Amino acid sequence: MAAQWPVGLDALAYGGDYNPEQWPKTVWREDVRLMREAGVTMVSIGIFTWSLLEPEPGQYDFGWLDHLLDLVHDSGIRVALGTPTVVPPAWFYQRNPEALPVTREGVRLAFGSRGAICHSSAAYQQAIVSIAEQLGRRYGRHPAVALWHVHNEYGVPVSACYCDATAAAFRRWLADRYTTLKELNEAWGTTFWGQTYNSWTQVQPPRLTPTACNPAQQLDWARFTSDELLENFIRERDVLHALSPGIPVTTNFQAALSQCESLDYWAWAREVDVVTNDHYLVAETDRNHINLAMSADITRSLANGRPWLLLEHSTGAVNWQPRNIAKRPGEMGRNSLAHVGRGSDGAMFFQWRASRIGAEKFHSAMLPHAGTESRIWREVVRLGRAIGALAPVRGSRVVADIAMLWDWQSWWAQRLEWRPSVDLDARERADAWYAAAYDRHLTVDFAHPDAELSGYPLVVVPALYTMSESVAANLRRYVEKGGVLVVSCFSGIVDERDVVHPGPYPGALRDVLGLTVDEFTPLLEGERVRLDNGTTADIWAEVITLEGAERIWSYTNGPAAGHPAVTRHTTGRGTAWYVSTCLGQDGLVTVLRQAAADAMLPGRDLPRDIEVVERAGIEGRYLFVINHSDEETTVPVTGPATELLTGENVTAHIQVPAGEVRVVARTIWSER
Ligand code: GAL
Repeated sequence: MAAQWPVGLDALAYGGDYNPEQWPKTVWREDVRLMREAGVTMVSIGIFTWSLLEPEPGQYDFGWLDHLLDLVHDSGIRVALGTPTVVPPAWFYQRNPEALPVTREGVRLAFGSRGAICHSSAAYQQAIVSIAEQLGRRYGRHPAVALWHVHNEYGVPVSACYCDATAAAFRRWLADRYTTLKELNEAWGTTFWGQTYNSWTQVQPPRLTPTACNPAQQLDWARFTSDELLENFIRERDVLHALSPGIPVTTNFQAALSQCESLDYWAWAREVDVVTNDHYLVAETDRNHINLAMSADITRSLANGRPWLLLEHSTGAVNWQPRNIAKRPGEMGRNSLAHVGRGSDGAMFFQWRASRIGAEKFHSAMLPHAGTESRIWREVVRLGRAIGALAPVRGSRVVADIAMLWDWQSWWAQRLEWRPSVDLDARERADAWYAAAYDRHLTVDFAHPDAELSGYPLVVVPALYTMSESVAANLRRYVEKGGVLVVSCFSGIVDERDVVHPGPYPGALRDVLGLTVDEFTPLLEGERVRLDNGTTADIWAEVITLEGAERIWSYTNGPAAGHPAVTRHTTGRGTAWYVSTCLGQDGLVTVLRQAAADAMLPGRDLPRDIEVVERAGIEGRYLFVINHSDEETTVPVTGPATELLTGENVTAHIQVPAGEVRVVARTIWSER
C-alpha cells in the first residue's frame, strides 16, 4: 500500500512548483542554494514537460531530469514528481487532432495553450499510460521521489468534451447506470417534450439545443464527465503504484473553486493517496481570508480529517484576474499558516522562480523578478523558518465544531436553466452560511449528505436542492437522535434524477422540519424584505404552513408578508431549524447563535477577523490564532503553554499583534 504522506519528508512541506526547464542549467545550482536558504523541503517538478521528455513519438530524453533530480536530492529536498499529461506535445495533436476537445457549441479548441484534452480520446488514454510507464520505470525507485503529482488540476480549464468519441463513452456510462433504454427514458423523463429514445445511438451529450435541454440528461452528463476524468487519473495512478511501490500518488484539487466546478471531489478523494489542493485568493473580494478558510476546511473534509497538503497558492499577486492585487506585507504568511491551522501539513506555492517568458510571467513567485533584495523574498525566508518551527503540529487533526453539507452533484442540478430564480445560487448560500460560522468563530467540517453526522452537535444545510430518500432518512435520524439541524431554503426539493418529491415542498424534509411550503415567492432583482426581528433578506421568500414547527420570525412585507420566515421544530430528541429566505449576514449569525445554543455549543466571543482554529495530536494541542485585523488582540488560553513561532511562554493569554499569527502549543483554549 502506498504511503499517505510524501515519503521521506519528515517535516512540514514547504516549497513550490519548480519549472527549471525555463532556465539554463547554470541557474539550477543557484535555485537549490536559495531553496535551502528559504527552508524549502519539497518541490513539484515536471508538470508541464511532456514535449521535453518525449520530443519525438517514442523517443525519450531523460538526461535533464536525471540531472535535476540528483541535484535536488543531494540538497536534501524531496520531490513531488509530475506526470505531464496536462500538456500533450504538438506532435501528439498533429497525429491525433481528434484529441483536442470540442465545446458545447461544436467548436474544436486549438493547441497553443494547455489542458486542451478530450479525456475520452483513445489515443490520449494510451499516451498517458505510456508516458506514466516511462516515468514510473525510470524514477519509480529514485530516492528523490516522495510523491507522484499526476496531471494538473483536472477539469481546468476544460472538463467536458462534446465530440463523437465522448458521446460513445457517455452512452457506455449510461448503459452501465441504467442497463436498458426503458430505464434511461424513465430516469430522464423523456415523455416530456417528446424526447423518447428507441435506440442507444440516438442518445447524445447535451449539445447546444434551441432552448432548455433535458435537465436529467445534463445532470448525468456532469456526473459522467467527472467520472470520465477520474478514470484517466486512475489509469496513471495504477501504473505508478505498480512501478513505484510505496510512493503515494496525488493530483492537485481545486476544492473550493467558486463556480462549483466540474468534479465531484468526494469521489476523487477516495482515489488519491494524499489529498492535495490549490487555492488562490480572489484578490479583489473583501475578507478573502474567509474563502481561504473554507477551501482549507473543504479539503480537510475530503481527506476525511487526515492531514492534507496545500500544493499551490501564491506569494503575491496572480496574473489571471482582472486586477491582480498584490498581497500586503504579512498576508502571505497569514494565508499559509491559516492553511496549516486548518489541517494542511505544509504550504507550497506556484511557483519557485518567476518566469520571464510565457503566459504566467506576471505571476508572483517565491523568488520574484526583483530577486532576493525584495520584500517577498524576505517574507519567504521568514515563512520557511515559521514552517520549520511548526514541525510539531505534523499529523495532528483539526478540532471542528459543526458540520456543513456539501454536494457538488446537487449544485450542478441547481445551476441548470429554468429554476425559480436565477439569483438563488447554491454556492452563494454556502459561502454566506460559512461566513456566518466564521464570524461565530465556529470551525466547520464539510460532509457529504450521506455521511454519518452523529458526531456533530450542529449540522447546517446551506443548499441541498437534490436530496435522495436515503439522505432525507440520514437527516431525520440525525435529528431524532438529538442533533440540531439548520436547513436553508430550496433544499430537499427533487430526488437525484431531478424529479420533484411528491406532495408539497420540501418533499424530502417536510416531516423533519414540521412544515410545508405552499408556494415559492422569489423576489424582484434587488428587492429586500424585512423580518420582524429587524433583519432583512433578499432573493427568495416562501409561503409556509406550520405543521408542528414553531414560528421564530415572520416576514413583515413582500410576497410572503405575515407568514413565518424562520421556524424551529422539536422532533425526537433534536431540533430542526428552517430558514426560508436568503438572510443577510446579521440574520444568519443570529440563527447560528440560537441554533448553537440549542446544540449547547458555546460560541467564542472574539473580535471580528480573529481566526482561531485548533489542531489536536498525540503530543499536544495547537491553537492557531490569526489576526487579520488592524489591531492587536488578546486571546485567552489555558497555560502553561509555549508559543511555537516566538518561543514565548504563555500562561493565561496570548497577545497577537495586528496582522500576525501565533501558535500556542499544549493548551486547550479556556472558553471552549
Ligand atoms: C494554477 C495552476 C498553476 C498556475 C497557477 C497560477 O491553477 O495549477 O500551474 O497556472 O494556477 O495561479
